[in-house]
Amino acid sequence: MIRTELLKPDNSGITRAARLLADGALVAFPTETVYGLGADARNNLAVARIFEAKGRPRFNPLIVHVATTDIARNYVAWSDQAEALAHAFWPGPLTLVLPLRADAGLSDLVTAGLPSLAIRVPAHPLAHRLLTAFGGPVAAPSANPSGRISPTTAAHVLAGLSGRIAAVLDGGACPVGLESTIIGLTDDTPVLLRHGGLPVEDVAMLLPAAPVQNTSPVILTAPGQMESHYAPAARLRLNAASPKPDEAMLGFGAMDCDLNLSPREDLAEAAANLFPHLHSLDARHVAGIAVSTIPERGLGRAINDRLRRAAAPRP
Ligand code: TXA
Ligand code: MG
Repeated sequence: MIRTELLKPDNSGITRAARLLADGALVAFPTETVYGLGADARNNLAVARIFEAKGRPRFNPLIVHVATTDIARNYVAWSDQAEALAHAFWPGPLTLVLPLRADAGLSDLVTAGLPSLAIRVPAHPLAHRLLTAFGGPVAAPSANPSGRISPTTAAHVLAGLSGRIAAVLDGGACPVGLESTIIGLTDDTPVLLRHGGLPVEDVAMLLPAAPVQNTSPVILTAPGQMESHYAPAARLRLNAASPKPDEAMLGFGAMDCDLNLSPREDLAEAAANLFPHLHSLDARHVAGIAVSTIPERGLGRAINDRLRRAAAPRP
């Protein structure tokens, strides 16, 4: 056990967080999507500690976070499609998977030996300041124990990982609340690898053709693509009109319920509330959580993806 430092979002907190990263320690930090568990992406031992702290069963590939698009180009083979998406959506909740450059100098654990790299430029001001102060690439999965709900506050991070990581940089609640949308650009045809905080409709508008949904078994080991994931302890029942006696109700739209994702049916608000509301209902130790129907459009696709995984049979 180590004592996990809770760092304030000021200059001294950021300097301390950057120092810890440089020393090979793990630092959780806020992004606009969810809190990431960061390590120096060039340091094998530091990256290995991520898997140890999360209790991840396998060495799945990780997303590398950098401060600017110019820096990202040092690690991946750039393309016109990458430029179009980065120009429109970085910094922001979009991850691009591109061919790894031979001279990237990253730990092999980051890519799990794949010839491609997932990379993004986060929009959260604290993430940007930390990346700039550290001055290197930061590998970061969501800062939760493997298989559990992603954290959107520093308190969520501490509840799952206190004693196992060096520090948490406290930036309050994450504004988007869902992990980044992941687009694969390793072939001519863009591939949607994960629904997330950027609606896929927005991505499609900038590409010659809409990204095709990933069906390749090659990367099915990636956690965002496993059937059961993002799971609360309570069992989830989707598309529920009303709760059963032993269930709490997670609502959407004007209705009577225990917690409401968005009474005014705003999908961005629902996305930001999804993980925090699942965390709080779970903390009530209810047997089950009944969830209202969420429309399958825009951010609703990512919300439904996370809900289906949370409801899937556990391994
Ligand atoms: O919003 C986010 O993306 C958050 C914040 C912290 O940035 N991070 C996150 O990381 O969600 P994680 O480890 O929970 O999910 C990483 C996902 C994997 O599930 C996998 O689908 C994809 O990134 N991935 C990483 N490298 C890949 C690669 N080379 N090819 C295909 N997919 C890859
Ligand atoms: Mg995750």
